Amino acid sequence: MITSVRLVNFKNFADETLRAGPFTVIVGANASGKSNIRDAFRFLHGVGRGYTLAEIIGGKYGDGGQIEWAGIRGAMEEIIRFGQPSFSLQVEEKDAVYKIVVGRNESGDAAFRVNRETLKTQLGTIFTSTSVGDGPVNVQFDVLHLLPRKKRDAAGIDDIAHAEGRPNQPGLTQIQGHKMSPWVQEYYADGLKKVLAKMRFLDLEPYQLRQPAFPGQTVLGDRGEHLPTVLQAICEDSQRKETLVAWISELTPMDVRDFEFPTDPSGRVHLAFLEADGRKVSACAAADGTLRFLAMLALLLGPDPNGLYFFEEIDNGIHPARQWLLLELIEKQTAKQGFQVITTTHSPDLLTMVNDETFKNTSVVCRLEEADDAIIRPVAELPRAGELRTSQGLGNLLSGGWMETALAFTEGYDEGGA
Ligand SMILES: Nc1ncnc2c1ncn2[C@@H]1O[C@H](COP(=O)(O)OP(=O)(O)O)[C@@H](O)[C@H]1O
Ligand SMILES: [Mg+2]
Repeated sequence: MITSVRLVNFKNFADETLRAGPFTVIVGANASGKSNIRDAFRFLHGVGRGYTLAEIIGGKYGDGGQIEWAGIRGAMEEIIRFGQPSFSLQVEEKDAVYKIVVGRNESGDAAFRVNRETLKTQLGTIFTSTSVGDGPVNVQFDVLHLLPRKKRDAAGIDDIAHAEGRPNQPGLTQIQGHKMSPWVQEYYADGLKKVLAKMRFLDLEPYQLRQPAFPGQTVLGDRGEHLPTVLQAICEDSQRKETLVAWISELTPMDVRDFEFPTDPSGRVHLAFLEADGRKVSACAAADGTLRFLAMLALLLGPDPNGLYFFEEIDNGIHPARQWLLLELIEKQTAKQGFQVITTTHSPDLLTMVNDETFKNTSVVCRLEEADDAIIRPVAELPRAGELRTSQGLGNLLSGGWMETALAFTEGYDEGGA
């Protein structure tokens, strides 16, 4: 599980840390920087996928010319905070801390390059990579003090292994194949890479949720592609179907009782619902909120949800009564190991209903008056937050603007502030 991400000169953050838990909620005004945090996670995900910096930031096209990866929002220049030469991201996972500093070549093509990279654990530094001028990165694997002499000898590891790497790609995904302890590689480099690679950025679109799908497509796309066949696969397992229908009937008593999966002459599978009064309704005629809701249930109840799921405005189009059950399901599912959810929200209702654990992992992003940069603070650490949550509800604190006022006070930007 990722426990924190520190953003330095990344977009509108000078030096801020997001603390993450099993279920992390991010709130904040429009243009405060919530999606910029998502961009930071996408950057790290791009690292985990083994892409070069130009690909992570600018996008990657597959061999057939199709988009494989959409790149980071904004122009190439806009990933680094305005006026700064480089940015860095630091991610903490279990006892490993990975940090990458990204700048641009000073001469020639101004391409992005890795200035410096470190992977550390409680045991010490696993590896560092350092850029030398505009030349190739000198990737240095420092495994010296991590293993007892005997083990090192048995594994045939030199005291320090040096290697050359390319400057345009994180060393984390270049170190395979270099002479390095399999133990170090398996538990740290590969382990962290896998955690970064296991992220999903969901952006469910009603249009996609209504499309039929070809049999065998059992992974829900980021925009909600393949919903019919994903639900069909869940329904083939009677126990899973029972769970799904139980959640559905609690949440959508009127509009969904059961599913049907008719096939059209082209072989594509469509989604239809049986409503409480026996009417059959196709996905094309279903409400947007119902489809988004079903897609989230399919994600959360599908086979073995794991890794990190990032949602933008999870409440979008969903009635407060359903948000409550959705919240309960997320809190239940993320209590299982290896599954983590982060979402942004503008919903006071959702915020009021979070449990104590989620409250601890709720952060507010805020651009204080007269400041260009944004700050990220755990809501629970604002003065009297716990007390006011109990007396007024967290949602009221959000809609009444209390969080921004409290931040202006604690950060010393108001006239009377310290
Ligand atoms: N490179 C940058 N340097 C400084 N500020 C930036 C940079 N890129 C974007 N921003 C700021 O981030 C804001 C958008 O933040 P965003 O995360 O999209 O907001 P939201 O909280 O609504 O999701 C922009 O209005 C802009 O002020
Ligand atoms: Mg946004």
